[in-house]
Amino acid sequence: MARSPTSFVCQSCGAAYTRWQGKCDSCGAWNTIAEESAATGVGARPGKPGKKGRTFALAGLDGANDDAPRTQTQVGELDRVFGGGLVKGSVILIGGDPGIGKSTLLIQASARLARMGHRVVYISGEEAVGQVRLRAERLGLSASPVELAAETNVEDIVATLSEGATPRLVVIDSIQTMWTETVESAPGTVSQVRSAAQVLIRHAKKSGAAIILVGHVTKDGQIAGPRVVEHMVDAVMSFEGEGGHHFRILRAMKNRFGPTDEIGVFEMTGKGLREVPNPSELFLAGRDLGAPGTAVFAGMEGTRPVLVEIQALVAASSLGTPRRAVVGWDPARLAMVLAVLDAHCGIRLGGHDVYLNVAGGLRIGEPAADLAVAAALVSSLSGTPLPADAVYFGEVSLSGAVRPVAQTAPRLKEAGKLGFARAVMPDTSRGDAAEPGLATQTVGHLSTMVADIAAAGVAGRPPEPRS
Ligand code: TYD
Ligand code: MG
Repeated sequence: MARSPTSFVCQSCGAAYTRWQGKCDSCGAWNTIAEESAATGVGARPGKPGKKGRTFALAGLDGANDDAPRTQTQVGELDRVFGGGLVKGSVILIGGDPGIGKSTLLIQASARLARMGHRVVYISGEEAVGQVRLRAERLGLSASPVELAAETNVEDIVATLSEGATPRLVVIDSIQTMWTETVESAPGTVSQVRSAAQVLIRHAKKSGAAIILVGHVTKDGQIAGPRVVEHMVDAVMSFEGEGGHHFRILRAMKNRFGPTDEIGVFEMTGKGLREVPNPSELFLAGRDLGAPGTAVFAGMEGTRPVLVEIQALVAASSLGTPRRAVVGWDPARLAMVLAVLDAHCGIRLGGHDVYLNVAGGLRIGEPAADLAVAAALVSSLSGTPLPADAVYFGEVSLSGAVRPVAQTAPRLKEAGKLGFARAVMPDTSRGDAAEPGLATQTVGHLSTMVADIAAAGVAGRPPEPRS
């Protein structure tokens, strides 16, 4: 009798092998390969072989959609990241470290939606109904008509959801706890997660209910297991925050219905998550004015300007290879700025440890931060505080030239709004970005700015070195 064939699947990347092995050749992870039934696991095909296909109707792009395509959750920061609200029939994966606040965020959004009269179903696979209730009570949301269940079988869940009015939103917390009868593997394995997600996604598309899947993230920052559903869902968001900070940032990594560069900013309080509509004020709060090594960067996160403090510490190193530690920025970018400072501005940091930190746990992806980083580094090295009322932005090229960046006007506007008096920025040929009350100081080459900081240090500092 033929034995049902088995295969060995890496639980981290989904690569399949015919034999067990300790290390995955595909992603290099150790001890991630588990035995799964090939009939249901990777490479399994639904239906019987040789089945004849049926024909279906094809439609044009210009057909009308009958219903309002988006529903706003009224949690402004959430809607912003979604691209203007929840899209009908869409499936969103929200990943994040355990304890970061995913369940809190989603119960709050569910309650808002339910209070507006939409049907919202919250399925918890991790907590008992009582525990979810307890949290809702703490958040003052007990009165919201959210429909609650603690279930993990997706067939049962879909059957329940199919009864009555189509829910506007279904929250599945979390996808790792879900399992389907059609797959033999244990819940949490790649094939279970993938199959369970498939069932839920099919239901979302068919019924028009929006589904949010919660996914837990492993230590190395990847969405474990749910990594393999990333390509199946419409949007992938990550909910992140630095340990010790109260800020939480929701970031879109993939979004079929909206931009991926928007962030939503929240603050974790004793009464749940609070929206932060003006993140700059938060990121600049508690700024150490007058200390060397800090520069305010006027950045953009999607359509929204965000001012954030960049902190640098340059210290003489006792190590053969000096240390370079970066939090919140690209280390390769820092290496580039250091090289440009060395080659074109005479700033030698080869014997110094360099630490760089973006305040508030924000992660910056923009090259426009180059100028602010360079200013903070030079300020730290020379012990010269930068002017407290200045913001910096501009991209530094390998030649040391400071290049213009996009969206100058909103950056200046935000700086003006928060009381800054000057902006150190690239020379934009178009003078369309002037902001009343804000002096602009254009820099063509990085060495000009370095010389300015050094001159300010000589003029305004007592001559003895700081101890
Ligand atoms: P939770 O939403 O359970 O996280 P996740 O679902 O991502 O695992 O959040 C739990 C954390 O949030 C916990 O450490 C306590 C904190 N918290 C507050 O600070 N205030 C609150 O009102 C709530 C509900 C949680
Ligand atoms: Mg949770």
